[in-house]
Amino acid sequence: LPYHVVLSGGVGSRLWPISRKSQPKQYLRLFGGKSLFQLTLERNQALCQHTLVVGNKNNFLLSRADLAEAGIADYTEIIEATPRNTAAAIAFAAFAVPPESVLLITPSDHIITDAHAYQRAVEEATELAYTKKMVTFGLVPKRPETGYGYIEADGREVRSFREKPDAATAQAFCDSGRFLWNSGMFCFRADQFLTELHRYEPEIYDRARIAWDARDGAFLPEAESLRIPSQSVDYAVMERCTNINVIPAELGWSDLGSFEALWEYFLANSPEASFVQNNLVLGSKRHVEFIGLENVVLVETPDALLVIDKAQAQHVKQLYERLEREH
Ligand code: GDD
Ligand code: MG
Repeated sequence: LPYHVVLSGGVGSRLWPISRKSQPKQYLRLFGGKSLFQLTLERNQALCQHTLVVGNKNNFLLSRADLAEAGIADYTEIIEATPRNTAAAIAFAAFAVPPESVLLITPSDHIITDAHAYQRAVEEATELAYTKKMVTFGLVPKRPETGYGYIEADGREVRSFREKPDAATAQAFCDSGRFLWNSGMFCFRADQFLTELHRYEPEIYDRARIAWDARDGAFLPEAESLRIPSQSVDYAVMERCTNINVIPAELGWSDLGSFEALWEYFLANSPEASFVQNNLVLGSKRHVEFIGLENVVLVETPDALLVIDKAQAQHVKQLYERLEREH
């Protein structure tokens, strides 16, 4: 069985104000009283032999609380001093296990509704990973999304991996019928990942190794960590390596990265709980009414209120960044 590596370093800025640095979206109890992080743990626990959580010093207490609630007592914590993106985060996990172990890397903030299809996909991926393939999980694209990676597939073989294309390229990929969305989950052997990382990004490999060797229990040191180039696994490794396979993954997958994605999720799963007329209401304990407004998202927290047009959901990230600069 593979090791489950949960990446939990992101802030979820496109879901401000319900997602905060102190309370990132993967820990929000928006899903039947559970968080996405907790659902990720539960989904993978039976499929994997051990859980490794790669988080950071701002969120490890939130992770611990969810791990306890999910009934997982035996796990490995890796606590980053500062986020250095996913290439380094995965390298730490690879350093932590025996070299021939298979790692199943998952984000902590996705929804998967088809548990059986997921199990089959993970089993198939694990088998391929043992043979030293770098395994991705691909979805048929639904729109020319520029925030995802694209996988050019020929059956299980991958011809190319293209991270976050511009709008015209994304449209061309969708039109071609040859490309799948990258789900953001990966499966590979620890030694194979480190070989590829060392080949394509020796600096990330070396700096991550130095930080790892200077760790204090679960805690990585800040000074050494700041020297690690900050790059995602998609750019650092997946765009360059030549032995990628893809497993089709129609898993009821959703990256709940924006209010538009949340809208679609709640519409399909619990419309009665979340919608007022044709507007999505999140976090408010008040009686909310709308007159003459549709396709609006209203989000309330004790200290903030956001009202936006659903079609503008991607702009929340810029708003978040402006607020960060001003404070
Ligand atoms: N530990 C740790 N440290 N985790 C991190 C860090 C870090 O520095 N940076 C990001 N993560 C976590 C995030 O919390 C998330 O769970 C996961 O790693 C992926 O990072 P994102 O920042 O959400 O990546 P993305 O959404 O832009 O792109 C990835 O996912 C897409 C699908 O959702 C890529 O793999 C794309 O190719 C893919 O399509
Ligand atoms: Mg993401």
